[in-house]
Amino acid sequence: MSEPNRRIVLAERPTAAVEARHFRLETGTRPACPEGCAIVRNHYLSIDPTIRDWMDERKSYLPPIALGAPIRSGAMGEVVESKLPDWKPGDIAATLGTWEDFSVVDGRMMGRKITPIDGVPLSAQLGVLGGNGLTAYYGMVEVGAPEPGQTVLVSAAAGGVGSIAGQIARIEGARAVGIAGSDEKCAWLVDELGYSAAINYKRENLYDAIRAACPDGVDVFFDNVGGEVLNAALAHINVGARVVLCGAISQLGAKKLPPGPANYVFLLTRRATMRGFVTMDYVQRWTETSAVLADWVQSGELRWRDHIVEGLENAPSALLGLFAGDNIGKMLVRL
Ligand SMILES: NC(=O)c1ccc[n+]([C@@H]2O[C@H](COP(=O)([O-])OP(=O)(O)OC[C@H]3O[C@@H](n4cnc5c(N)ncnc54)[C@H](OP(=O)(O)O)[C@@H]3O)[C@@H](O)[C@H]2O)c1
Repeated sequence: MSEPNRRIVLAERPTAAVEARHFRLETGTRPACPEGCAIVRNHYLSIDPTIRDWMDERKSYLPPIALGAPIRSGAMGEVVESKLPDWKPGDIAATLGTWEDFSVVDGRMMGRKITPIDGVPLSAQLGVLGGNGLTAYYGMVEVGAPEPGQTVLVSAAAGGVGSIAGQIARIEGARAVGIAGSDEKCAWLVDELGYSAAINYKRENLYDAIRAACPDGVDVFFDNVGGEVLNAALAHINVGARVVLCGAISQLGAKKLPPGPANYVFLLTRRATMRGFVTMDYVQRWTETSAVLADWVQSGELRWRDHIVEGLENAPSALLGLFAGDNIGKMLVRL
């Protein structure tokens, strides 16, 4: 008899903020394995702001999720059936999967084969050693390119990407300053991750606080938030600064987009650049970069935290939680 398969599908497209009613839990049976695919029993789902973007009708860097289809997300699990030459039952895969017990994963979306590392929980393979770590690495090293002694400002600094990005800046010899939404998050950044200073943007005047925390100005701004936070940071950039557009969570699901940052003119007077990047563009380098991140994790230079929500049925509330700032570190769902 077929095994049951629970899945969470897109019930309705949000036109503003994502809400629980946009999802529906369905129960069916474990799917058959088509040619060119594998069936993966999911153990962890990666909860990322970009899922909100894929729920829209317009195409972003990937096609929209179809109405009624399971929610697409990063995932990790065990191959239970395979029609792919390089994958066999028992392999652990970090995939572009779906919010289901069992995902049908096309060969092109199988991603990395995971070799567990002693002393490092499997969940870290989706966070610090997976999409978050890779994003922080390419955004910081390739786009931000901080030099020793420079000041690097990071927004959403206590989140999955931001918590790693500031540490990479520190490893590169720069001084990292974080912006986050609670005193507890700010304390974690400074006391445990080696950030030099942290700003609680919900409690402090952001313009004044950035000036105080970055007395020599900002050489790299790694932005995960957009909107007012980006605007405030632009007012403090130095000549030749690099503004790294990693994400704009404040705009995902906004009913009306705010006007462009008024302080963009600082890019002109400070001869600075503002550049976006997408981690998928570096796919050929993922394995090599994961090894660099693993070395830093094993040497203790890179620390991380996973915020784990239990149960597939709670995946929608975990996604909503990203927009409420519920997480410290990487948001994941364990099945
Ligand atoms: N370019 C790429 O290839 C790529 C790849 C992956 C992710 N990203 C982007 O990277 C960013 C971080 O992603 P993540 O997965 O690591 O998420 P995350 O930072 O772990 O979670 C989002 C955090 O953003 C903050 N936030 C939410 N709404 C906000 C608002 N309106 N204003 C200010 N802060 C807000 C919250 O923390 P607070 O408590 O601090 O408010 C929340 O914890 C996102 O923008 C994502 O889209 C880009």
